[in-house]
Amino acid sequence: MVELAVVKKSGVRTASLRTPSVRAEGVRSARATHAPRVVLPVPVQHEFPVFSSVAEAVRVLKPARPVHVVLPKVLRAAAQMFLAQFPGTSYYAVKCNPHPFVLKTLFAAGVRFFDVASIAEITLVAEVCPGARMAFMHPVKSREAIREAYTTFGIRDFSLDCFEELHKIVEATSDHGVAATDLVLHVRVATPNAHAAQNLSAKFGCQPAEAVQLLQDANKVAHKVGLAFHVGSQSRDPAVFAHALALCGDLIKQSGVTLDVLDVGGGFPVAYQDDDVPALTQFFDVIREGLAKLALPKSCEVWCEPGRAMVGGGETLITRIELRKGDALYLNDGLYGSLFDAGYFNQKFPVEAMRLRRGWRADKMRGETLAYKLFGPTCDSIDVMPGPYHLPADLREGDYVLFTNHGAYGRAMSGNFNGFHEADTVVVE
Ligand SMILES: Cc1ncc(COP(=O)(O)O)c(C=O)c1O
Repeated sequence: MVELAVVKKSGVRTASLRTPSVRAEGVRSARATHAPRVVLPVPVQHEFPVFSSVAEAVRVLKPARPVHVVLPKVLRAAAQMFLAQFPGTSYYAVKCNPHPFVLKTLFAAGVRFFDVASIAEITLVAEVCPGARMAFMHPVKSREAIREAYTTFGIRDFSLDCFEELHKIVEATSDHGVAATDLVLHVRVATPNAHAAQNLSAKFGCQPAEAVQLLQDANKVAHKVGLAFHVGSQSRDPAVFAHALALCGDLIKQSGVTLDVLDVGGGFPVAYQDDDVPALTQFFDVIREGLAKLALPKSCEVWCEPGRAMVGGGETLITRIELRKGDALYLNDGLYGSLFDAGYFNQKFPVEAMRLRRGWRADKMRGETLAYKLFGPTCDSIDVMPGPYHLPADLREGDYVLFTNHGAYGRAMSGNFNGFHEADTVVVE
C-alpha cells in the first residue's frame, strides 16, 4: 500500500525525511482539563510524496497498488471543529485511523486527548504525540495491559461495564496489595443504537440497572467516577444523544454518585453515498441541551470520543480496475484490505472514476453511468462490495476508482484493527 499527502496547490514536493517534529505553541498542557479553544496549526514533517491534487497523484504515480491519499487540511478542519464547538473535551478514538501521520496532524492541530483500546495504540500515541493524555476506554482489557498502561504510561482513566472488570482494574493497578488511589473509572452503559450503521451497545455496555450499582461500587474505590456510552457508529439522528443523556440523568440520580466525567462517546456521522447526515453542530446543540437538563456539578467534565467524524473526510483511496466483466469491476483493494466496511456493512463510500490519457493527464470521467458491483483482489467470493456503485458506463481495465470520505475505518481495517491480532507461532512435533 502506498501513502501520500495532498497539501498544496503547486507541483510535487518530496517532504523532508527528518524525524517528525510537532510544535505546539499556544496549546495548553496535555494535563489540562479541557481542550484548547485556540490553536495555531503547524505543518507536520513527514516522509510521504506530496501532490497538489488527487488527479496529479494518479497522473504521476500511475499506481499499480492501492494508494491512501491523506488530506491534512480536511483533518485539521475537522479537529478544529471539535475543539471549537464541542461543549467539552474531545478524545480522538485512535482505532478509527491510527496512521502516525494522521495522529501527528491531529496533534499539531491541537488534539491532545486520545481514546485508546490496546497497548499497541497506547505505545503509538506515546511515541508520535508526546505529552498527549490517553484514556483506556476499551471495556475489556487484559490484566497485563491495565498494569502496563497504569505503571509505564501513567494512564489513570479506564472504562468498564461489569463487576469482573472493575475488580480486575483494581487488582491490576494495586501495588503489593495496596490499591491505587488515583483511578478514574468510567462505567459504560448500553444505550439505544437504533439510528446507527453499527450498534456499539450490543457487545459492550451494561444494562441501566447494573450501571447504578457499578457507579456506586466504582465510587468506593476510584478517585473519580465517570459515566460513558456510545450511541453507535454513524448515528444519523442527533436525538439519540438526548435519549442517552436523559438515561444518564436517571442513573446519576438513582446512584447518588457525584459524577466527575460524563462521556458521550463517538458516533458522529460522515456523509456517504445515499446517506445525508445532519451537520455536526446539530449534534452538539442537542448534546448541549441534554446536558443543561442534567444540572451536573460544575466540576463534572464532559467528553466525547469521535473517530469517524474527526478523520472520515481526511483520506481518499485510489484503487485500479484489473478487469471488467459486464457490470462487475475487479479492483486491487477489497474486503480483506481497506474496503472492509464497504464489503461487510455495504457502506457506500462516494466514488468517482479517473482515466489516464496519453500518460500525461488523469481526467475525472463523466457521462452516462452504470450500476456496478465491485470485487476485491482475493480469491475469496465474500470479497465483494455489493453497492451498487454508479460509475461511468465506459470503464475499462486500468481506469481508477476513487473512494472519497475514506479516512475512517478504511486502512484501519486492513490489519491489526484496534492494535490487536498479533499472535505468536509455536511448533509441536
Ligand atoms: C469506545 C469507543 N469510543 C469511540 C469510538 C469511535 O466511534 P465513531 O467512529 O463512531 O465516532 C468507538 C468505535 O468503535 C468506540 O468503540
